[in-house]
Amino acid sequence: MRMRLGVNIDHVATVRNARRTFEPDPVYAAILAQMAGADQITLHVREDRRHVNENDLRRLKETIHIPINLEMAATEEMKNIALTYRPNRITLVPEKREEITTEGGLDVVGQEKFLAEYIKPFKEAGIEVSLFIDADAEQIKAAARIGADAVELHTGPYAEAWNAFDWEKVKEELARLKFAARFAKNLGLRVYAGHGLTYHNVKEIVQIEEIEELNIGHSIVANAVLIGFERAVKEMINLLKRD
Ligand code: PXP
Repeated sequence: MRMRLGVNIDHVATVRNARRTFEPDPVYAAILAQMAGADQITLHVREDRRHVNENDLRRLKETIHIPINLEMAATEEMKNIALTYRPNRITLVPEKREEITTEGGLDVVGQEKFLAEYIKPFKEAGIEVSLFIDADAEQIKAAARIGADAVELHTGPYAEAWNAFDWEKVKEELARLKFAARFAKNLGLRVYAGHGLTYHNVKEIVQIEEIEELNIGHSIVANAVLIGFERAVKEMINLLKRD
């Protein structure tokens, strides 16, 4: 038995958009992820479209066979996009324009009424609703109260502690995640996790039984660039040969 893996393809599009060109194509990456055995493709269409956009979402939907998990802010614009292209799941995340990546979990407690209304059309459309939240009992209780299907626990603080080799903090964050995973599962929520996970820090998270799935993006894309670099250079050198 293993956890499911959702591969986040955002940063393939980050490289593409750096040149405002067509390569690398995140849909191509999604096909390769599918062929490699990924269980899901995750993407975050942000308000500023800094990486993937709705056109990528449409092409993904037409191309891949594994489930699509759309991360999005709880806005009217994103609601329309999601109800048009119908991913298998939406994951609501907080979003600020200035941030480099999603910084904290969604405040479900503070906008309970709004979110309860916001998710209704998705539930009616049979789209799974997941909320990206901090490993916090109050947020989990609120997620259950509004009728979310699942929560994705924010592993960012754990990952940051790991990257700083702060083992005390790592222990603390792991304990929080373990408690939160069990707490959420006991309330009938499905439990996923993600953010900041790498080839180095993922091992401990894999041991948390209640977590069914991880969504990982940056580290996979980073590794892919390096694993593929030598071959890519050799292929170009081959093209420089004269007859
Ligand atoms: N899960 C959520 C909700 C996210 O917002 C992100 C980043 O877009 C990820 C997982 C993936 O994080 P990373 O790219 O750090 O693996």
